[in-house]
Amino acid sequence: MPADPPPIPDALIDALRSASAVAVLTGAGVSAESGVPTFRDAPDALWARFNPSELANPEAFRRDPKLVTKWYDWRRQKIAGCGPNPGHHALAELERWLEQRGGAFTLLTQNVDRLHHAAGSSNVVELHGDLWRWRCVDCGDEGEDRRVPFPEVPVRCDRCGGLKRPGVVWFGEALPAEALGAADRALRSCDVFFSVGTSAVVEPAASFIHAARSAGAAAVEINPERTPITGLVDFPLTGPSGRILPALLSRLRGD
Ligand code: OAD
Repeated sequence: MPADPPPIPDALIDALRSASAVAVLTGAGVSAESGVPTFRDAPDALWARFNPSELANPEAFRRDPKLVTKWYDWRRQKIAGCGPNPGHHALAELERWLEQRGGAFTLLTQNVDRLHHAAGSSNVVELHGDLWRWRCVDCGDEGEDRRVPFPEVPVRCDRCGGLKRPGVVWFGEALPAEALGAADRALRSCDVFFSVGTSAVVEPAASFIHAARSAGAAAVEINPERTPITGLVDFPLTGPSGRILPALLSRLRGD
């Protein structure tokens, strides 16, 4: 039987009850309990077996579109069989709980699996794009493609016959300007900031905590492991988000 989640500090409950705005940053760890592989921490993590410089970048796609597409299609197949876990659902409930009290909630995710949307979260900012959207590198035609697996790789554009790439941010590429703007606004105005399930090593998300703390926010980290920001947060909650977040919502509901 997994260990009980750590107790939720009363001070955190008080901070949430008096908050008018909450910003949450999530990483691959929030989807780990759904069965989606993380990048760095587990022995079977994605980066343990693949070198991102060989796959997740524009040059790799130009060099070998078939290999890169096959890798992303493998990830699509893994994600297609996964659903949101109690941590995703708790974040969707936190959004509803805040908005019912006239508060603002922004979910900044590095994940490309759309599991926050599947759990019912609505104000989701996809910092690193969406693995289900594919874009033609020639004519720019873009759309959601849920065919799993792809019938052929690489994927060809129906409109112009060009190659289609995943709608995710690759190494060396800038994050979508709209997403960065939304993140900046949320971080500058939040009273409580959560970092959930991220190793806090990839910029700019790894520095979001500094913007939030500069705005005077109370900072929370939910992660079974220590990260470079653990020493900076007010409330380090050590454990899996799929257990800690539901426990937090249970306290907020007054269960
Ligand atoms: P990582 O794989 O780097 O880190 C996953 C984090 O989740 C680790 O700190 C784990 O300790 C933690 N974790 C594991 N299981 C957890 C659980 N059940 N509950 C809570 N936390 C758990 O993934 P990210 O930090 O998301 O970027 O990686 C950031 C970015 O690096 C990704 O978005 C991707 C990658 O390159 C792009 O693709 C652009």
